[in-house]
Amino acid sequence: MLKPEIEDGQVSLADPAFRADVLTGLAARPRAIPARWFYDRRGSELFEAITELPEYYPTRTEVALLDSACGEIAEQVGPGRAVIEFGSGSSTKTPRLLGCTDPAAYVPIDISGDFLRASAAELARGFPGLPVLPVEANFMHPVPLPAAVADMPKLGFFPGSTIGNMTPFAATDLLRAMRTSLGEGAMLLIGIDRVKDPAVLVPAYDDAAGVTGAFNLNLIERINRELSGTIPVDAFAHKAVWNDAASRIEMHLEAQRDATFTVEGRPFALAAGETIHTENSHKYGERGARVLLRSGGWTPVAEWTDPKGWFSLILAEAKPVDLAP
Ligand code: AVJ
Repeated sequence: MLKPEIEDGQVSLADPAFRADVLTGLAARPRAIPARWFYDRRGSELFEAITELPEYYPTRTEVALLDSACGEIAEQVGPGRAVIEFGSGSSTKTPRLLGCTDPAAYVPIDISGDFLRASAAELARGFPGLPVLPVEANFMHPVPLPAAVADMPKLGFFPGSTIGNMTPFAATDLLRAMRTSLGEGAMLLIGIDRVKDPAVLVPAYDDAAGVTGAFNLNLIERINRELSGTIPVDAFAHKAVWNDAASRIEMHLEAQRDATFTVEGRPFALAAGETIHTENSHKYGERGARVLLRSGGWTPVAEWTDPKGWFSLILAEAKPVDLAP
């Protein structure tokens, strides 16, 4: 949302949080801008295109898994749950889950109200009779749920391996916030991408058609557009690397030559070879994913994976915290 902000006598139409993250991130060492700023209109379109690339296996693998596991998921969770989705419902995944679990209500939570209402309305059309109760909130913090679902058993849904964007430290905070939002006894169905051969991982984030590169570089264009930046887009190149120690793919924007520019009037200089770190996509092994969930207060109860073991759907439960031994 665009909120005017007045500072130093200047009127800026940019989102103040975007402005703060970019100015702070460009001044920091290493330079880094949070991945959530990829998703302006153009960025969201490019991400949709990424999900259809031959190299980008996660989306199609997770969708196929949801289809093949849905009967078993329904058996485990039972009917009559309020399904609480963290992030706006994707048109491919959410209907699959709602269609097989016989839920009593659907509560999508998203920080972007416009997108949230549009996708909630679209979903409601496909499920007449199902109460759809969107909540506009930042789900990184505990979210109060609508009174109508207070007494229903809950099933959280967090697909897409979005959790991989967070460091394990931040992911643990998020899982705990979800537990607070949903309450003890709730269940959570979460999609988590697995560690695999970097020869598979790297091309998934550096495709031959250059769509992921365009997605990454769009962040520079967004900064230039919304924060009156003068960043020379042609001085930067998309870079995707596997960081084995941190178990993650990293995306960077790498300066191909010395570059000087301003953003909202502030000067910055990058030497050739310097990078701006724009995204982490953490990958977890079987046990690592389970330990992560437990750190966040969720006990895994069932798990599904594709024949290659590339992606996992984990069903977990918020059991009373067990302090012993
Ligand atoms: C939406 C965070 C799951 O990390 O795979 C895809 C984003 N970035 N290609 C991912 C993304 C580059 C994606 N997530």
